[in-house]
Amino acid sequence: MYPLTKKLLFLMSPETAHEVVKKASCLIPKSWLYRQSNVSSSILNTKLASVNLKNPIGLAAGFDKNGEMTSFMESLGFGYLELGSITALPCKGQKKPRVFRLPKDQSLINRMGLPNAGADKFSKQFAKNKVNIPCGINIVKTPEFAAKNKFKTGIADFLYTYEKLYDLGAYTTFNLSCPNTKEKKTFEDPVLFESLAKEIAQLRASLDDHKPILFKLSPDLDAHSLNKIVETAIKYDFDGFVLTNTTKERPNLTTIQKKIISIGPGGLSGKSVLDKANIQLKRVYDIVGINKILIGVGGITTFEDLLSKFANGAQAVQIYTGFIYGGPFIVKKLNEDLVQFCKKLGVKNISSLIGNTEIL
Ligand code: FNR
Repeated sequence: MYPLTKKLLFLMSPETAHEVVKKASCLIPKSWLYRQSNVSSSILNTKLASVNLKNPIGLAAGFDKNGEMTSFMESLGFGYLELGSITALPCKGQKKPRVFRLPKDQSLINRMGLPNAGADKFSKQFAKNKVNIPCGINIVKTPEFAAKNKFKTGIADFLYTYEKLYDLGAYTTFNLSCPNTKEKKTFEDPVLFESLAKEIAQLRASLDDHKPILFKLSPDLDAHSLNKIVETAIKYDFDGFVLTNTTKERPNLTTIQKKIISIGPGGLSGKSVLDKANIQLKRVYDIVGINKILIGVGGITTFEDLLSKFANGAQAVQIYTGFIYGGPFIVKKLNEDLVQFCKKLGVKNISSLIGNTEIL
């Protein structure tokens, strides 16, 4: 069924297709869909600190920014969802068109610019949510073009959203990889990150927040800065990392150069980012091992891609672009293949796959 639906959806612009799916999702009986999609096995059970997942496959941030499709996503068999990115102030994002498909490469380029309802509206909407799987909330500093100087500093902006939302979700992810100044600096700058981390740690202690706090990083971050950030996160006792966001580079593409140039700037996701994302994941795993939560994201379209995330140190994964190209039953298929694989290997739980390069 999905090849036909995909053909129709791909006749529309990516954002129109997204809206159509969102509207149609309200009409589909969720309990029926859940019975079709859910894979139940203790092999898949995963624990990310205090957060229990029935399976390790999560929806990556950006797909359900405002948490409007949570029960639909749950019925597709996801083990957890990462909502957002949410900013302190509402944000319209960049001018359209801002998402582009590269079907030959099972990839996307986007320059969305973080459109979302903003922390206040999100918190009101989310409180009404009746979802039974853990939802992490991904937060990011309001982009310069959207902020009307309400906050004196980028850190104050970030902390506003954290304080507003930390209690709603299962965990908080600070998305560090989006530009937060006119000069396109991000909180991935190790000096800026040190100031941010210190203030988050202070606020976290005063709020008595014991839920995991993760940091989402770019695959483009150089090894030196990455090491510094990991060091600082360890120093302040944070819980882990989401690796990675999209890349500004254009690796592993077969799409004709003319088309890529005509699309212009933006973050590349999907199959073509897999290698870069895995390198970054492995770098962090080599430092922290299983002592910190590592969520692997970027480029999962096949079961082999999924295995590569575990082999490089991920305890759980997320998917976005692979879901667009692979369709709604990709989650079920990946979970089923995972159960079969573990049974064949003679292991009782997917935790045995973490950091095990022999599975590749
Ligand atoms: C994203 N991604 C993203 N990440 C994030 O932290 N906050 C966000 O708001 C968004 N928005 C967003 C929009 C679109 C259109 C795409 C394609 C991606 C990045 C996403 O969560 C993920 O890290 C990357 O897409 C890599 O994973 P995939 O897509 O290769 O599975």
